[in-house]
Amino acid sequence: MSNRRLWMSAVTLSLGTLALLLWMFSWTAREAGKLLPAGEGRDEVIAACTSCHGVDRILRAAGRDEEAWGKTLDWMQKMQGMRPVLGEERRLIIGYLATSLHETAAKRE
Ligand code: HEC
Repeated sequence: MSNRRLWMSAVTLSLGTLALLLWMFSWTAREAGKLLPAGEGRDEVIAACTSCHGVDRILRAAGRDEEAWGKTLDWMQKMQGMRPVLGEERRLIIGYLATSLHETAAKRE
């Protein structure tokens, strides 16, 4: 193999490695984006809402206001058998869903 060809293969190999690293980086970023953003009530949401389905279900619904989330919770309770989420816990969960979650959804668009 001539020096030139050797050099070309080295370049191809580096570019390939670089592309792979970039791809892995963007994949990691996308995975991180699937997690719930920080905020008051986040732990309560994870505790009450992730036993039946993943966080992705909740993320996809981001953008609802408090009233709409209230209805979602009622529906989950009546139709899906979710344990009653009441009082302070309900307030924290709905607050989180309508504010912290809402903000990330808005930023993504
Ligand atoms: C007892 C099980 C259970 C629990 C606990 C539960 N869910 Fe669900 N949820 C479901 C099921 C089942 C579906 C899917 C229904 C379907 O898509 O056919 C669903 C669907 C959803 C959807 C998509 C439907 C829609 O309204 O757009 C959202 C959003 C959602 N859940 C949010 C939540 C939140 C927030 C909590 C916590 C307060 C929660 N879930 C807790 C069972 C549960």
